[in-house]
Amino acid sequence: MDKRNAFITVITTAAWLCLAGTALADTAEIVKTCDSCHGADNLGAESSLPTISGLSEFYHSDQLYFYRDGDRPCADAPDASGNMTNMCAQTADLSDDEIDAVAAHYAALPFVAAQQEFDATLAAAGQQIHERDCEVCHTNGGSNVEDDAGILAGQWMGYLEATFAEYGSGEREQPEPMKKKLTALSGDDIKALLHYYASQQ
Ligand code: HEC
Ligand code: HEC
Repeated sequence: MDKRNAFITVITTAAWLCLAGTALADTAEIVKTCDSCHGADNLGAESSLPTISGLSEFYHSDQLYFYRDGDRPCADAPDASGNMTNMCAQTADLSDDEIDAVAAHYAALPFVAAQQEFDATLAAAGQQIHERDCEVCHTNGGSNVEDDAGILAGQWMGYLEATFAEYGSGEREQPEPMKKKLTALSGDDIKALLHYYASQQ
């Protein structure tokens, strides 16, 4: 390598290191905002706020793309200062790289099941329905992150209830085989499923 090429290599490496440093700082900044709603401080305060730590990177980044690109409905929620916002607004300015970095950050954290009340009789009925209709894709009772289908076991009941309503109204897209199963269920069946997922703590 002559002197000029060596110089260019040094400059290029320096530029890459700078870029990498900026990307890391940005991810930390973005995550701070996410955590103001989804973080440990807020967990349990609002059962409509899903736990996002421990979601698979693939599922998580997909959902952020869906929100950003208008392919998933966004429910309004207050930010840390009490101003109303939603997931569409939160993802509107994120690049693909930023979304992937944020999803990777949360995928590396453990999923912690929500401590919430449930009815044991309903939970037992819900388990039967789950094993019959859902276990094939949401394995281990809906707790297996490798399914890339969200985490149902230990997810907050309020969030899952709103999600079932969005599937029921057709606002949120779902895989066709899942739709067949979900539309065949009664309101009582859904309620039982909610208690089953909440019972896994
Ligand atoms: C103002 C509070 C707030 C902020 C800030 C916020 N979220 Fe959300 N998020 C919500 C609410 C409420 C829902 C559920 C309602 C919905 O789907 O719109 C949600 C849903 C989600 C889901 C769907 C979970 C699932 O299992 O499908 C993911 C993933 C998510 N948020 C990630 C993030 C990330 C990453 C950030 C930061 C870029 C973020 N959120 C910032 C309130 C917030
Ligand atoms: C054919 C496979 C399949 C079947 C059967 C299935 N699901 Fe799903 N489910 C998925 C996939 C894949 C996703 C993620 C879709 C996406 O990326 O938005 C999902 C997502 C979900 C979500 C959203 C999770 C979240 O965090 O927001 C819920 C709730 C859910 N399924 C419940 C059920 C229930 C209850 C049943 C049984 C009645 C069921 N599913 C049957 C494949 C399936």
